[in-house]
Amino acid sequence: MAETKPMILVTGGAGYIGSHAVLALQEAGYGVVVLDNLVYGHRELVEALGVKLIVGDTSDRPLLDQLFADHPIAAVMHFAAYAYVGESVTEPAKYYQNNVVGTLTLLDAMRAAGVNCFVFSSTCATYGIPQTLPIPETHPQDPINPYGQTKLMVEKILDDYDRAYGLRSVRFRYFNAAGADPNSRLGEDHNPETHLIPLILDAAMGRRDNIAIFGTDYPTPDGTCIRDYIHVTDLAAAHLLGIDYLLQGGKTEVLNLGNGNGFSVREVIEQVRQTTGRDVVAVECDRRPGDPPVLVGSCEKAQNILGWQPRYGDLGQIVAHAWQWHQKRYGQH
Ligand SMILES: NC(=O)c1ccc[n+]([C@@H]2O[C@H](COP(=O)([O-])OP(=O)(O)OC[C@H]3O[C@@H](n4cnc5c(N)ncnc54)[C@H](O)[C@@H]3O)[C@@H](O)[C@H]2O)c1
Repeated sequence: MAETKPMILVTGGAGYIGSHAVLALQEAGYGVVVLDNLVYGHRELVEALGVKLIVGDTSDRPLLDQLFADHPIAAVMHFAAYAYVGESVTEPAKYYQNNVVGTLTLLDAMRAAGVNCFVFSSTCATYGIPQTLPIPETHPQDPINPYGQTKLMVEKILDDYDRAYGLRSVRFRYFNAAGADPNSRLGEDHNPETHLIPLILDAAMGRRDNIAIFGTDYPTPDGTCIRDYIHVTDLAAAHLLGIDYLLQGGKTEVLNLGNGNGFSVREVIEQVRQTTGRDVVAVECDRRPGDPPVLVGSCEKAQNILGWQPRYGDLGQIVAHAWQWHQKRYGQH
């Protein structure tokens, strides 16, 4: 008989990265329950996977208590958060309330239910401006926007909760999530979209006129910003390993998740031109405040501790998978 694996609560499982993690958990034989308030998530993604969706908010303590009473949850993967950096500057209250208070409510409901394994979506935005490259986990954390602050605050809460209550966590600091399920069952569908690859694909498809390049005079080989793009299926695989690690008694860890390779904005645009065979009009604009020239992570620690290795590190594959999904999502333009 097939082994029955424990049940995992995935908050934000109707979102981009969360839905890919749900798929990975399902394929590995875990039971899954999704909690998502659907502010940015997509009901149909969860329904298509045949997973139970509870529509609700992480700050709703009575709902959480009922959820933990009704389901034998062994661990929580927490993706639910707001993640628009610019909006976090103009509306910090929304971010502190949701990303910090919502998470605290969830952690306290976990404690009450005796659940003590937590996988958390942190971000390279907690590092602020890099002092060394590639960025190791030991790099100082000095976020330059409220979004990054909210994630750093949760990291600190998690340290204290481990010390005091034995709530163990794996905090993954992601670099730029990109790509889509290689079989196009899921993909990126943010609204509004702010991520580079889907925006360039929109330009390739004629859904927008052009793509803006913010800054062409950075101290990088082609003058444009370099970022570390990590395939969303590789992120999901790391989360699965993180859950296994915690359920086997692993201690709290903080791990970067990136590809280890950086690609410039111009390189990504050129890759989209090659992959799609379409023209993409690029418009050169001024720098945006707060964009570091290069953000690339060192992921050796995740490799050593979890045995994780990115499978889809090639930019061509990342863009090809994103393009397949984009065409499925928006039709063949
Ligand atoms: N996309 C990236 O490149 C990236 C990089 C670093 C970190 N992250 C983090 O990864 C996580 C997932 O990002 P994503 O790109 O999939 O975003 P997303 O917006 O697609 O997914 C987040 C999901 O959480 C839900 N949600 C938000 N607040 C909630 C709440 N209080 N209660 C219940 N559901 C709630 C939203 O409806 C959405 O479905 C976020 O925590 C984000 O900060 C993302």
